Amino acid sequence: TRVGVLLSGRGSNMIALVEASRAANCPYEVVLVASDKPEAAGIAWAKAEGIATFALSPRGLGKPAFEAAIDRALRDAAVDVIALAGYMRLLSDGFVAAWRDRIVNIHPSLLPKYKGLETHARAIAAGDATGGCSVHLVTEELDGGVVLGQAEVPILPADDADALANRVLAAEHALYPRTLAEFVTR
Ligand code: GRF
Repeated sequence: TRVGVLLSGRGSNMIALVEASRAANCPYEVVLVASDKPEAAGIAWAKAEGIATFALSPRGLGKPAFEAAIDRALRDAAVDVIALAGYMRLLSDGFVAAWRDRIVNIHPSLLPKYKGLETHARAIAAGDATGGCSVHLVTEELDGGVVLGQAEVPILPADDADALANRVLAAEHALYPRTLAEFVTR
């Protein structure tokens, strides 16, 4: 299965997906890393690894033209499945419909809890004993599609949002490759 990753930032989940894909029995390969932020660290990493990249700022383009360009790049690379990995822009309903059931995302909470941003601070403020991350199908509803896999971590009394984010991020790096592999062989 040919995977295209969309990211906006450092790309640690993309790196985890690429590194896991190098195992002999991995059922997917990352054939394109695309971004709305040309300066994203994840784009530089992918380039250095010899992975095809596509980076385009939507500024001045407008959303339809921007998404059409992303869609074109994904189709030119013969992408089967899109993996969002810290992609900080909402995909339009039309884009989601065009890739129905072929877009997955990783979200740093135990969905359906804490959709959206500031997930770790909200989990701590609520007094939750555990936090975690979820891989889910992307639908028109933000962080609302079917959950494909989750990993749980403890929330410790001394945790601030950054400490919890780091613990969850380590869990993300294990969960995402495993869940994506399961998804593409489902
Ligand atoms: C991760 O916490 C992911 O769950 C969220 O955004 C962050 C991206 O981090 N959607 P990275 O760019 O993969 O390092």
